[in-house]
Amino acid sequence: MATAYLAVRLVSEFAAEVRASLTKPGQRELPSKYLYDEVGSALFETICVLPEYGLTRADARLLEKYSGEIVGRLPSPIRVAELGSGSGKKTRWILEALSRRQKTYYYPIEISPSALAACAKELGQIDLVSVVGHEQPYLEGLRTVAEGRGEQDHLLVLFLGSTIGNFDRDAGDEFLQEMRAILRPGDALLLGTDLEKSVELQLLAYNDPAGVTAAFNLNLLARINRELGADFDLAGFQHEARWSSAERRIEMHLRSTRRQTVHVPAANLRFMLDEDETIWTESSHKYKAEEIAGMAARTGFRCDGQWIDREWPFAQNLLIAE
Ligand code: AVJ
Repeated sequence: MATAYLAVRLVSEFAAEVRASLTKPGQRELPSKYLYDEVGSALFETICVLPEYGLTRADARLLEKYSGEIVGRLPSPIRVAELGSGSGKKTRWILEALSRRQKTYYYPIEISPSALAACAKELGQIDLVSVVGHEQPYLEGLRTVAEGRGEQDHLLVLFLGSTIGNFDRDAGDEFLQEMRAILRPGDALLLGTDLEKSVELQLLAYNDPAGVTAAFNLNLLARINRELGADFDLAGFQHEARWSSAERRIEMHLRSTRRQTVHVPAANLRFMLDEDETIWTESSHKYKAEEIAGMAARTGFRCDGQWIDREWPFAQNLLIAE
């Protein structure tokens, strides 16, 4: 009963958010968090091995190389919570380094059940690591973990892969502030941020020639068809990646190649798209290494360390709650 009720609540939440974002005055949008159903998560895993998308390899290289050093700066005892664990592959380096000095509790927090299962399988067999997944929105899950710890336990929050880049800069600050409010002084946040590089490289990373990113983007419409009974004709849409130099971000859009109407029954919505009108599906903000200390200071942290990959400019930032 409880699961059926939850499923109904989540479908109507999905429908309500689809309706609100598609009918926003001006630019139509869809929330990027819905890109990650089972198909979308599998396509994202493929994006991560594309030669054009260096982000995930840079993230993993830094963790492989510097986990010992990063862990050496953390207080003890400490529990690990990860926001948006994905498959959990790169987290192994941190957990192995920590488990050399203590029994380690690891809490992946993730709304995708398939990603959560993959992550528990990948990391569950490391000696002295115990994995407890939370299928919850990020801050809700973090609150649960924070409330369940002992008086002495510190927390290390992992927010890797430049997921922070999905937030507009102001919303990113707000998110970090809300996270800080759940933490205690001395708790740590390891924040992965993709750094600005040439526009050409950035565009190619989000518009790969094999079309995997295009499929990832279009799958959002296919998902709405599957789950909300909509009739998006995927052949009438084209994937588009744009660089905004004003906002310093990549924007993913789906461009309607003709005038068409769309019906989304579960959202009680019918609307018309003009030829060349777009639906904005995701933002990926890019950062300057120097701006992270400012973000930390504005949100109740101090930046205690920063490690940068030179091959694909990307930074791991260790923020400590003040
Ligand atoms: C998982 C949000 C970091 O923005 O680079 C990859 C998602 N979108 N290709 C990113 C994504 C298109 C990715 N994040």
